[in-house]
Parts: sequence; structure tokens; C-alpha cells
Amino acid sequence: MKVLLSREELAAGVCRLAAEVRRDHGAEPLTLLGVLTGSIVLVADLLRQLEGPVEVGMVWASSYRGTATRPGSLELRLDLLPDLTGRRVLLIDDIFDTGRTLSALVDALKERGVASVQTLVLLRKPARTEVAMRPDYVGFDIPDAFVVGYGLDYDGVWRNLPEICTLEPSDLSTTLGTTPGTTLG
Ligand code: IMP
Ligand code: MG
Repeated sequence: MKVLLSREELAAGVCRLAAEVRRDHGAEPLTLLGVLTGSIVLVADLLRQLEGPVEVGMVWASSYRGTATRPGSLELRLDLLPDLTGRRVLLIDDIFDTGRTLSALVDALKERGVASVQTLVLLRKPARTEVAMRPDYVGFDIPDAFVVGYGLDYDGVWRNLPEICTLEPSDLSTTLGTTPGTTLG
């Protein structure tokens, strides 16, 4: 494994994101919606740097891919959501890869009577975007490599790493039950 973003770089990036959100929203009420499971670390770090009344909810999304480069089917679960009528929503995910997950979630949220929806991601792989939408807030643009840590997993593990690391082929044999396909969440 190779460190791509250190703890210090991540902390500075989250500080920067929080400052941008505060600049745009000040102390107005805001509803943060984290995308399970990859966004949990980012949501926890970001939320403590915001001011004013902040609500937190979670949605669940998972995409199954036969290979890391071929997008598969996307499953969304919105049954954990609080009432969003009239809310200013900030949808938060770990990474904007093809963009299909956030794009589908934004469409689903717009049907629930929200006042507005913005999106925030820690990471983006600009080379892989497949949708027209762009995130409103981006922590870091990264190259097209599979990354883990700070909430992001491979095959369910490595979310606990404090850094963002790229996986080397030799790391793949050490996961818990490596399967031919990968469920990304
Ligand atoms: P998208 O729909 O292609 O933008 O994929 C977004 C989801 O795939 C994210 O919420 C992540 O859970 C997962 N994902 C994409 N790239 C990576 C990666 O490099 N490491 C870990 N998870 C990833
Ligand atoms: Mg995810």
C-alpha cells in the first residue's frame, strides 16, 4: 500500500471543505446526508466544523462491479431518511468516481420536496466521470487508482486506515475473502 494523502493533508482538506460550506451557508439550518458506508469518517470530521443547526441523516448506496473499471448495477436505500421537506440538503460521499451514485441520489432527493441539494465529496477521479453533474465541493482530485482508507473500503475492509492509500496488487490477497466481483459502498 502506498500513502496518497496523509492524515495532515486530509485534515487540511476537510478544514478547507468546511470553510467553503460555512462561506455558502453560514449559520443557516443545513441537513447533511451521508452516503453509507464510505462517508462515515468524512461526515464525522466535517460536521464538527460547521456552525448553526445541523441535522444528520444517512442514505445507503452500493454498486456492484465485475471489475474495478466497469460500472455495474446501483442499489439505493432511502428508508433511513428524515423528513426532508423544505430542507437545504448537503449530500456527502467519500468519492466521486463515475458519478452515477451521487447523480441518482440527487434525482431521488429532488422528488422529496427539498429546498435545495448540494453535493460534497472528499475525493474525485476526474478521468472517470460519466455523468453531467459535478459535485459542488471537492476535497481532492486524484488519479484513476483504487484507493482505501478514511472510510473507503476494498471488499469491506480498510475503512479504518487514517490515510488514503492506493492498493498494490500484492494487497489484494490479504483481504477477507476476495471475490471476483467487488461491491463498492
Ligand atoms: P460512482 O457511482 O462511480 O461515482 O461510485 C461511487 C462509489 O463507489 C463510492 O461511493 C465508493 O463507495 C465506491 N468507489 C469508487 N471508487 C472507489 C475507490 O477507489 N475505492 C473505494 N471505493 C470506491
Ligand atoms: Mg460509497
